[in-house]
Amino acid sequence: MKESWKKCGYVDEPVPSDINIKDEIRRMCSEKNAVILAHYYTSGDIQDVADFVGDSLALAQQAAKTDADIIVMCGVHFMAETNKVLCPDKKVLLPDLNAGCSLADTCKAEDLAEYKKEHPEYKVVAYVNTSAAVKALTDVVVTSSNARQVVDSFPKDEKILFAPDKNLGGYLNAITGRNMLLWNGGCHVHERFSISGIVELKAKYPQSKVLAHPECKSGVLALADFVGSTAAILKYAQTDDCDTYLVVTESGILHEMQKSMPQKQFIPVPPELVSDGSCSCNECDYMRMNTMEKLYNCLKHEWPYVELDEAMREDALRPIERMLEISATHKL
Ligand code: 13P
Ligand code: SF4
Repeated sequence: MKESWKKCGYVDEPVPSDINIKDEIRRMCSEKNAVILAHYYTSGDIQDVADFVGDSLALAQQAAKTDADIIVMCGVHFMAETNKVLCPDKKVLLPDLNAGCSLADTCKAEDLAEYKKEHPEYKVVAYVNTSAAVKALTDVVVTSSNARQVVDSFPKDEKILFAPDKNLGGYLNAITGRNMLLWNGGCHVHERFSISGIVELKAKYPQSKVLAHPECKSGVLALADFVGSTAAILKYAQTDDCDTYLVVTESGILHEMQKSMPQKQFIPVPPELVSDGSCSCNECDYMRMNTMEKLYNCLKHEWPYVELDEAMREDALRPIERMLEISATHKL
């Protein structure tokens, strides 16, 4: 492995100009028995070349059942780690090791360990957007698709700490009638959606419905007709009879929306202006680190891949398996 690649976290090599990159990626997948999993927040070209596109829960479920030798996770680092926790014998590639998550970064394993020492009576429910080291310290993992079912599975009087997304945690408290303690974390993309932007777009498109991800702040969620994970938002629009939607989540999801519902109109809600007056972005810069070139190169060189300490992996497996069991037995 070249030292310069290690330094930058991805294979920094030009892709030959005379190839069809999509065909080559597919060819390498067949040759190497590799499967490409992509999150809805990646760019359209990545979603189109992937074997499977889904939300965080579906991607974990897909990884758990694949018989491929190599999983290429076009998403972010915690997703690749989750795949590795579930599939220790497989090689799990991530096209760019720098694809982190601002939300996962708000909860460090050492801080959670400290908190647990001070509050031994609390069960810890962790959002999947956390490092494997954090998952290893938790009782059960949730995604935005199954969080309600998982929280409902605890006795009503159970003391629970929910980490790290305070918006999702607050939303869960509201819909389940719980009073979970909330870690003070948030996602830099979802926290920035503009309430006034929604109000203005609603005035322009009065018949529209607002679809929001639960990582958005409570003022945004209060304006939403539907709150759910990316997969749930898609399903809602596919079965609903409205024809215009204001979409309050990362704009990558519009690719699948427009593809599967060309007769409907999907309008991305803008983020708030940042202090210098420029517009911040409703794209996750981490998800967008996945490019066709990096995907091609990581398949070709089978690098970068994620590695985990085995003891930590085993500890992280239990709460993920618990989540998958609850998801399998409760209708989502
Ligand atoms: P879902 O995939 O569960 O909708 O979560 C969105 C997200 O922020 C992933 O990082
Ligand atoms: Fe993390 Fe937010 Fe990006 Fe999702 S959208 S991966 S929560 S930074």
